[in-house]
Amino acid sequence: MFIPQAYRRLKRGPQVMLPKDIGLVITYTGVDRNSVCVDAGTGSGWLAISLARICKKVTSYDIRPEFIKIAERNKLNEKLDNLELKEKDITKGIDEKDVDLVTLDMPNSDKVVKHAYKALKQNGFVFGYLPHMEQVKKFADKLGKYKFYNVLVLEVIVRDMLVREEGMRPSTKGVWHTGYLLFAQKQ
Ligand SMILES: C[S@@+](CC[C@H](N)C(=O)[O-])C[C@H]1O[C@@H](n2cnc3c(N)ncnc32)[C@H](O)[C@@H]1O
Repeated sequence: MFIPQAYRRLKRGPQVMLPKDIGLVITYTGVDRNSVCVDAGTGSGWLAISLARICKKVTSYDIRPEFIKIAERNKLNEKLDNLELKEKDITKGIDEKDVDLVTLDMPNSDKVVKHAYKALKQNGFVFGYLPHMEQVKKFADKLGKYKFYNVLVLEVIVRDMLVREEGMRPSTKGVWHTGYLLFAQKQ
């Protein structure tokens, strides 16, 4: 799996969101220099840093101080003043208001749907990165309790191609499943 230089230089702690999936979060939500985002969990900050590179403000929550430390180092190296790292359990609530995007890459993220609904502005997006279909169902069921629309679930499969004299074809190696991507917008 190709990892661009802009990611290879970042330190890694827990499992990170891969660039192939991050790309879709950015393009499908349309976040830009005016956007305000909330993210959890921070982990190594790969998603949070990607968002901070293009958005106005990103606040990222994590409960593990050792992971915040890794993300803090990455933030400093990338010189991102618009990324705030918060040591807080996001299932207890989101402090920010009028948010354009809430990204959730953590266990039991369905528990954050109610807080995301409250924090989001109209037409704002909630995004869940979910390894298993059962989690997608649980998350989608929770969305049904609030006024969300445009629910979209997808998976990004990237196939590396071998470029060789003896024949060009897809590589037999590669990363297949990472996580399902779930998007929904607040009505
Ligand atoms: C898979 S990692 C996130 C990776 C991150 N998206 C990235 O791209 O680097 C999941 C993170 O969620 C954090 N986490 C778990 N439960 C949480 C909670 N209730 N509130 C905030 N963070 C939480 C974990 O400590 C862990 O760092």
